[in-house]
Amino acid sequence: MTDQSLKVTVKVSESRWREAQDWERDGWIATEKKRARFFKNWIWPVFSVLGLKPRFRGNDWNDWWADHFGHYHFLPDHVGNAIELGCGPYTNWRLIGERCHAEHLVLSDPLIRTYVGFPHTFLRHLYRKAACMVDDHPIEDCPFSSGRFDLVVMINVLDHVRDAEVCLQTALRLVRPGGWLIVGQDLTDAGDLERLRDAPGHEGHPITVDEAWMRTQLGDALEPVVDCVLPREKGRCPEHHSGTFLIAGQRRAVRPLY
Ligand SMILES: C[S@@+](CC[C@H](N)C(=O)[O-])C[C@H]1O[C@@H](n2cnc3c(N)ncnc32)[C@H](O)[C@@H]1O
Repeated sequence: MTDQSLKVTVKVSESRWREAQDWERDGWIATEKKRARFFKNWIWPVFSVLGLKPRFRGNDWNDWWADHFGHYHFLPDHVGNAIELGCGPYTNWRLIGERCHAEHLVLSDPLIRTYVGFPHTFLRHLYRKAACMVDDHPIEDCPFSSGRFDLVVMINVLDHVRDAEVCLQTALRLVRPGGWLIVGQDLTDAGDLERLRDAPGHEGHPITVDEAWMRTQLGDALEPVVDCVLPREKGRCPEHHSGTFLIAGQRRAVRPLY
């Protein structure tokens, strides 16, 4: 479903989403295979003990997001339940968790069963220590009840989903009043759409959203502590995206209707 006036595509068919997920899974598996070449899976722990490599492998854009969210300093030291939706193989929790301890952590991604097999990752480490729960539902089919979480994170996920509106509304719904939501999202304008149509990687990004759509969806549900749109040149991916939207804040109490 493409809304021409806003130049957004917020919903695609199941088969289009599955095509994107195949692209995503194949891409990460290829990356991990490259990382394993020349016995590097064996060498990594040795280098790590010697201080030549970090303990965990894999970062994607997690450092970039942490820098732009002020290293999550706005968060409390401690929360009860936290969830990262569409956590990917390396998770933003690796860095958020340095700032904020969660008593119960859910790492959720439809590809999580593949990702937990990647060696030397933070996700695999947490999984093997039973220090997190893993969940493989797409956000559209999220089984958790409303207001269950003190902290919900959804960074760099919406371009990849089947129904962006359901996903964003679900992220909001999961946060208890007074709890925290962190969302990071690349934005797309009409020019980007033209360029992206045949660009490599297009298969993996079925959804495109803009700032107006994001703001309409979020309404005034949050009391924001971070609320900014980085322009293209400062955004995460200037060649493909007109900007990057960052929002973090506490969920306002739901007002009674009467
Ligand atoms: C670009 S990765 C980002 C991963 C992570 N959020 C990060 O910033 O490192 C996008 C992730 O969204 C996941 N994803 C795709 N469709 C989804 C859906 N419907 N619900 C939840 N996650 C989804 C993909 O499996 C993929 O791991």
